[in-house]
This record gives sequence, structure tokens and C-alpha cells, in this order.
Amino acid sequence: MKIDGKSYKTIWFENNLVKIIDQTKLPHKFVIKDLKTVKDSINAIKTMEVRGAPLIGATAAYGLVLSIIENNDLSFLKKSSEELIASRPTAINLKWAVDRMIKKLNGINEKDILKIALDEAKAIKDEDEKFCKNIGLNGLKIIEEIYAKKKGTVNILTHCNAGWLATIDWGTATSPIYHAHQKGIKVHVWVDETRPRNQGANLTSYELNEEGISNTVITDNAGGILMQRGQVDMCIVGTDRTLSNGDVCNKIGTYLKALSAKDNNVPFYVALPSSTIDWSIKDHKQIPIEERNSEELSHVEGIDENNKIKKVRIYPQKSKSLNLAFDVTPAKLVTGLITEKGICEASEKGLKGLFK
Ligand code: MRU
Repeated sequence: MKIDGKSYKTIWFENNLVKIIDQTKLPHKFVIKDLKTVKDSINAIKTMEVRGAPLIGATAAYGLVLSIIENNDLSFLKKSSEELIASRPTAINLKWAVDRMIKKLNGINEKDILKIALDEAKAIKDEDEKFCKNIGLNGLKIIEEIYAKKKGTVNILTHCNAGWLATIDWGTATSPIYHAHQKGIKVHVWVDETRPRNQGANLTSYELNEEGISNTVITDNAGGILMQRGQVDMCIVGTDRTLSNGDVCNKIGTYLKALSAKDNNVPFYVALPSSTIDWSIKDHKQIPIEERNSEELSHVEGIDENNKIKKVRIYPQKSKSLNLAFDVTPAKLVTGLITEKGICEASEKGLKGLFK
């Protein structure tokens, strides 16, 4: 997708360095950052310079490439893998990508390991791009149907950023929207602000603006009234981990949107590549829900009138805070899962029908 009219991917490898778009600086500054070591990759994931389930998976894969460049030793590779997996606990793509890399590198000699690691990291990246494109083509059919019936602008609500910035390109939730827009279908997106880090306002709205797609930022609590007023035709969100029973773990607040959608008969879709499916866990209570620093809640960051980025405290220092980063939407609230292989019911039967 484009920034300032120029096409970018979110991550690439150049001159033995991993290049990323530093998402902590968006939307006010566009900065490309070099990752030189595996520690840099771990730090980029932890501080959310890169974020979004598929992108942190690809960053971890390239992190292992950097680990080999730094120190071509098996025990260092093992330590790097463990630290990468621990850097953010909820999105399964991270472990999925590290496990895939390690499986590929198992038994490979010192001389060949770097090339094989690079090829595999690139394969993970290219595959995600292809899968997200297919998610878009599959989800497009739903938007087309609504458009044909309504004969007017399709209003889509999304939460957090499951856009191209969260993947390699296209995004998951946004991919059907980009495809619809390219086909000339009129779409408008309600962008949940997504407190506390504001990925909706800072990233989703930004990337939609850059592609010329009409969008409106709303507070996280506004979705309900918009649905009651008939101003939302469908919701599409992403996911960090989808269980085989169809339960969906995504950014905190997704569950409340799904409840509201159910109460108002608004279709609620979740878009995901198969790398986000966790076939091993049966009960959502076993998903490790990331709890982040309370400063993300107590402070907000923005740009002042002198173009300076400023961070300010917004509530009393004495107040306690709890910053849970994700929640789980039960399968019964999900209208369908949009995947690279097609759309299915949010259930074991639905997912197995596509992937097993
Ligand atoms: O904490 P974040 O910004 O990494 O959370 C991202 C999300 O919750 C996305 O919806 C999810 O990763 C899907 S990205 C295609």
C-alpha cells in the first residue's frame, strides 16, 4: 500500500539489515528504522515499533536471520528464539514463525544456515502478503453483496489496526475494504480510536487516508449507538489468535463491539490468515493475555502547535490502572471467519473444512 503516493511493505531486508517503518512515530512522522541485531528485533516488538500479529511474526523470523549474522552458533539461536517468543505473549503468529524457522534450520550446517534462514524469512513474508490479498478477495464478496442490496455506501466498522501496517501488505480486516475501493464500490470506515495506544486513530485512519478511503474516527464507545441508528452495515476486525473452536482473541474492546453487533443484527466478521489459528488450545482461558505498562493508560502522546511530539499525564498519579491488551470474542458472536482459503463458520467444523 502507499504512503505519500509511494508503495511500501512494512518490513524488508537490505544490506544485511532489517528495515521497518517505526509505527510508534506514526501518524506524525514517517521514519524507516534499521534493525541490526536480534536484540533490536526483540525491542521493536516489545515497544511496538512493529505490531500486529502477522508483522510481529515476520519480524521474529528476520530477527533469527540477524541472530545468525551476529553469532552463528546453535545455542545463541536457541536463546534468540526463546526471547523472541517471549517478547509479546498473545499473538500466536510470533511462536508460529519462530517454530517454522527453527524447523527449517534444524540440522543445517554453519555454512548454509544463513541463506536458508533468509529464504525462509522471505517465504513467511511473501506468504503473508499473498494470504492477505486472498483474504481481501474473499471478503470483497460480502461487501459486494451488501452494496448490491443497499445501492449506497457500505459503512464498515473496524477496531484497532488490522490494516496493512499490521501485516506485510493489504492487512486482514482492511484487505476486503481496499479491494472494494479499487473496484469502485463506495465504502466508508468507522475507525474505533482504540485506547489506550490509539492504533485505530493513529494507524488505521492514517493508512486509509493515504489510500483515499473515506473514514471517520470514533471513540471506542460510539459503535453501539451507530449500530442502533443503522449506520453500520458490517464490522470486520482482525485477530491475534483464533482457537480451533472459532473463539477469537483480538485487541481489547473487540468483544464489546461483537456484543453490540449481535444485539443490532449487524454482521460481525473476523479476517485472518491461517498463521493466526492456534490448533493446540481448546479453552480461551488458556490464552496468555498481555498486560502492558500502565503508562500507556495514564499518558497520551500527540503533536503540539510547534510540531513537537509531547506526552502528557491524563489522570492522577495516585490512581491505579489495569492495562489488558486483548480480549476474547466467543465464536457464537462471530458471523464468519474470512481466511485466505475462503469464508467459514467460526467453529471447529468450519475451520477444519478449510484447513484440515
Ligand atoms: O497490540 P497490537 O497493536 O499488536 O494489536 C493488534 C491487533 O489486535 C490486530 O487486530 C491483530 O493483530 C490482527 S492484525 C492483522
